Amino acid sequence: EAAEKAGYDHFMLKEIHEQPTSLKAAIAGRLDELKGNVNIKEITLTEEQIRNIRHIVIIACGTSYHAGMMGRYVIEELTDLPVSIEIGSEFRYSHFPLDESTLVIAISQSGETADTLAAVKDAMRNGSHVIGITNVVGSTLSREANDIIYMLSGPEIGVAATKTFTAQVVVMYMIAIMLARARGSISIGKASKLIRAIKTLPQKSQLVLDMEAKIAETASLFSKSGCFFLVGRHLNFPVALEGALKIKEISYVMSEGFAAGELKHGPLALLTTGVPVIAIATESELYDKMVSNIREIKARDATVIAVASESNRSVEQVADLAIRVPDSCEYISPILSSIVLQLFAYYVALARGCPIDKPRNLAKSVTVE
Ligand code: G6P
Repeated sequence: EAAEKAGYDHFMLKEIHEQPTSLKAAIAGRLDELKGNVNIKEITLTEEQIRNIRHIVIIACGTSYHAGMMGRYVIEELTDLPVSIEIGSEFRYSHFPLDESTLVIAISQSGETADTLAAVKDAMRNGSHVIGITNVVGSTLSREANDIIYMLSGPEIGVAATKTFTAQVVVMYMIAIMLARARGSISIGKASKLIRAIKTLPQKSQLVLDMEAKIAETASLFSKSGCFFLVGRHLNFPVALEGALKIKEISYVMSEGFAAGELKHGPLALLTTGVPVIAIATESELYDKMVSNIREIKARDATVIAVASESNRSVEQVADLAIRVPDSCEYISPILSSIVLQLFAYYVALARGCPIDKPRNLAKSVTVE
């Protein structure tokens, strides 16, 4: 086992560090910057079938659900289609209308999650086309879905998903571009720009990993906290949810992610002196709104750790501490911030002496309902 960990103390840390490689694998051969298009040969839908789609439903559980939420925002932004995102265990007992005009995208790292598979079966019975996204070749999802896209992340052993999450997100972005180009809802120029940004991910994720010591130091300051709040807006909302899930899973500390705009609808009542709040405040159209949210949090005397863009020199005026991510567009920075939060969760768990790769009560794949 020590050999398999390649010098790292835990599989989780090794897998976090594999992200420059796994992201490269997920995009390799799929991006055509010149034509502003994405080639995902695994998708068998014709352009005409893509144009006939009326609705998209994304189904997933756990970390994959958070990747699905990010996919939802991007598909809605790039295409003219309404997108729903559903938790497998809820969807399978709902009365969601499904038919041939609905495209279903099922995301499952293991390809074996019982609730996601049940939802897929239901969708296929109703005539919907199902695209599966998984990391495991030959998994049940890969056999059942109409089309299957492999994330090509290599084996993930740590129970808490890391490299498969960022690969899922990037696959969702690529699907969004492909659908949008087929439907004519974005220009070649806009698609090329996004493709160019996606191509920077392997290198920029390495820059985040290079800041590991600083992230570890920040995490150690808060490792004895009894709870964590994480807040973000738009794509950074699922990033906050995923960061909170990572902390819960491996360090057993109560942590919750919130849409920053929802703070005043309840969570603010919980904020008191010194409660740590991680605010994802990278550059985006909503940056100023995040700053207002940080002020709201500071007014309750909570401690704000901002995840901010490299060139932002003003965030410290409102936040107590800042962790930087490389400057990048608002589609890419959420992926970089999620790597920051993976490392943060890892070092909180390490300081607390938790069994990081095998947290109590959790399994890598949940094959029962
Ligand atoms: C379990 C794992 C999580 C994972 C979830 C969904 O709870 O511990 O890491 O996100 O299942 O798994 P899937 O294989 O469907 O992505």
